Amino acid sequence: MDKLIVEGGVPLHGRITVSGSKNAALPILMACLLAEGPVALSNVPRLRDIHTSLRLLDILGCETEFSGNEATSCVTNLSPEAPYDLVKTMRASVLCLGPLLARLGEARVALPGGCAIGARPVDLHLKGLERMGAEFELTEGYILGKSGRLKGAHITFDFPTVGGTENLLMAASLAEGETILENAAREPEVTDLANFLNAMGAKITGQGTSVLRVQGVEKLTGCSYRVMPDRIEAGTYLVAAAITGGELEVADCPFQELDAVSYKLREMGVWLEERDDHVLVRPEGRIRGVDVVTQPYPGFPTDMQAQLMALMCVADGTGSIEEKIFENRFMHVQELARLGANITLKGRMGIVRGVDQLVGAQVMASDLRASASLVLAGLAASGRTEISRIYHLDRGYEGIEDKLSGVGARIWREKE
Ligand code: UD1
Repeated sequence: MDKLIVEGGVPLHGRITVSGSKNAALPILMACLLAEGPVALSNVPRLRDIHTSLRLLDILGCETEFSGNEATSCVTNLSPEAPYDLVKTMRASVLCLGPLLARLGEARVALPGGCAIGARPVDLHLKGLERMGAEFELTEGYILGKSGRLKGAHITFDFPTVGGTENLLMAASLAEGETILENAAREPEVTDLANFLNAMGAKITGQGTSVLRVQGVEKLTGCSYRVMPDRIEAGTYLVAAAITGGELEVADCPFQELDAVSYKLREMGVWLEERDDHVLVRPEGRIRGVDVVTQPYPGFPTDMQAQLMALMCVADGTGSIEEKIFENRFMHVQELARLGANITLKGRMGIVRGVDQLVGAQVMASDLRASASLVLAGLAASGRTEISRIYHLDRGYEGIEDKLSGVGARIWREKE
């Protein structure tokens, strides 16, 4: 297992380019199961979850290739079974359910287990697919789904679930008749998936709103598509500039999609300026604590919560973060405390009292965004921080230590 070593206290200066979005690429890869003909994707980040998705596509009967940041997929002989060995390592594997039912009328997909950030059930995915005519049985740890051709339906989600909206969008694209998804997730990654499906010949309207309309079509064809840049990776680098007191140009930054984040960063005293091909970011004087509540898009993203908390740890005054999306997403708090942070947890609320200086220590990554917050805190801390279990980080940040050392950070990887 690898660990990351960070020697903090260096203000970052220079230019960092954001990679393609993991959370957009994952559903888009699963949507390749729907295509008759080859699909060519560009701007696909080289991450562990992407390799896992490509392996899953292979097992489900696609021929795939991945070179540089280009991935191709061509369905040859579809099979309905997504085995536990793959699904357990990546919850997003459940996104093959909708496409398999739409193409084959059957699916056998391992039930994703609980994960570090909460129970994360898939009941809303299943309820929606049932409304379209699928029947499910849960047995021996697998979801067994059967359907004839799926039928369009009017579905109102109990909660704007990102994965649920994506599964239903894919299923509805090949269903008979019209599907209306209400209270749908509005996340930009859902929009990117809808745009990709449309490029394959789907008929989806309402992208970016909470009502999506899908006119089912008989078949979808191959296409070429560029995955959107990663707004969470971009947001993480905006915080990296602020927390080190440096100045960065963040290139290929999806700034429009980061409104809630840039609003809070500005409130904290961070200067952000959108330029031609990058966003310029630097702190303006001292950083101040703020109050943040995570919400579905366009609210403040839960995936940026841990990184903003790291910044609050070294801010003037007190700030708070209320986590409304996941019930157990504060595992980074204990580790930040090891670096000297002053955080009190009350249920789903973290109260952060800023300290003058964090001090390097050994810490352990518990999930993807928690790992990012520890890297950020390590960049700000004096001395040496060792972050173990960074395989979490490799699921979501392409070449993070290369990108950060390229702008002056002292950060490297060692074998544990
Ligand atoms: C996606 C993102 C993840 C992000 C999250 C919220 C991917 C691969 N992952 O996860 O990075 O943190 O959106 O923005 O895109 N829920 C249910 N039943 C369901 C589905 C969800 O109760 O059937 C609950 C979940 O437990 C959670 C909340 O709804 O508490 C949000 O989940 P959801 O929006 O579905 O997130 P994911 O798609 O899993």
